[in-house]
Amino acid sequence: MTDKINDLIARVEAFSSRSAAEIEEFRVKMLGKKGVVTEMMEEFKTVAPELKRELGQRLNELKTKAMQRVNDLKAEAQAAGVGAKTAAIDDMTRPGTAAAEPLGSRHPISLVRNEIVGIFARLGYTVAEGPEIEDDWHVFTALNFAPEHPARDMQDTFFIEKNPDVLLRTHTSSIQVRTMQTQKPPIRVVCPGRVFRNEAISYRAHCIFHQVEGLYIDEGVSFADMKQTLLYFAREMFGEETKIRLRPSYFPFTEPSAEMDVSCNLCGGKGCPVCKGTGWLEIMGCGMVDPNVLEECGIDNKKYTGFAFGMGVERIAMLRYGVGDLRLYFENDVRFLHQFDSAV
Ligand code: PHE
Repeated sequence: MTDKINDLIARVEAFSSRSAAEIEEFRVKMLGKKGVVTEMMEEFKTVAPELKRELGQRLNELKTKAMQRVNDLKAEAQAAGVGAKTAAIDDMTRPGTAAAEPLGSRHPISLVRNEIVGIFARLGYTVAEGPEIEDDWHVFTALNFAPEHPARDMQDTFFIEKNPDVLLRTHTSSIQVRTMQTQKPPIRVVCPGRVFRNEAISYRAHCIFHQVEGLYIDEGVSFADMKQTLLYFAREMFGEETKIRLRPSYFPFTEPSAEMDVSCNLCGGKGCPVCKGTGWLEIMGCGMVDPNVLEECGIDNKKYTGFAFGMGVERIAMLRYGVGDLRLYFENDVRFLHQFDSAV
């Protein structure tokens, strides 16, 4: 009986096939109800007690090896089958099928950024981009930041090198500087991008976020032009009924400067927890480009005027989708992201 078992183990090890039918046939022959192993088990009952221990072990070995072999071969055959299938669709121009290639969804920040850019594109603005790693001049000096301005402080800015300063941009206004240096007015650009500030991460602040800033420079551009442009934007973004208000503010690169609020679209201006009872939500900074900035960037400030504005995409997205915690945008939890599946 030992010889017979050894012989069978050798056969199991030698057996190989890629055909599902052949593998199944082998399985039935070896492990089926009337298979070899069952037969051997019957025979085993009749062996002398002193031989039982060793033979029992060999018999078990045969059974496990046969099962293992069948499983391995099945897996191999399946993998080869998948390979054959992919080879058959090597034609990359074939249209995909929705079931075979499940689509992901766009990130809510991309959705809102595209929407903001789209609104300004309809007004004739083009998109300008620039580097995330910048120097002091493009982020601060050209924008009229005094040398001791606190925004240059280590607390706000991530410096990569000191003297000469290499840093992560804290706003996308640096792109506007680059645009003014390379283009002649009329200039109409929106500048979307990632920005970095050394802030503690909480539900309402993050050290990385996204901005869309904008710049319009031409002869005779006025504050009223800015107001009308931003009103158009607010209505497109938050609905026809939306009102805006401008509050005086300060930025080194604009004069006069303002913060723009939109009427709270949740309570219709009556006051609710989101607008903290005021009926208004702050969404962006804006103002007339300071003549010093125009001059620094090589634009004739006697002939041209312009306005600039800048907003945080996360903030707009929070208001747009009613998201209460900014950190959700960075965690990429699919349960959050899938809620935006149907948006385009
Ligand atoms: N750069 C400003 C910021 O990051 C926003 C801004 C842009 C304000 C243009 C006024 C004009 O906060």
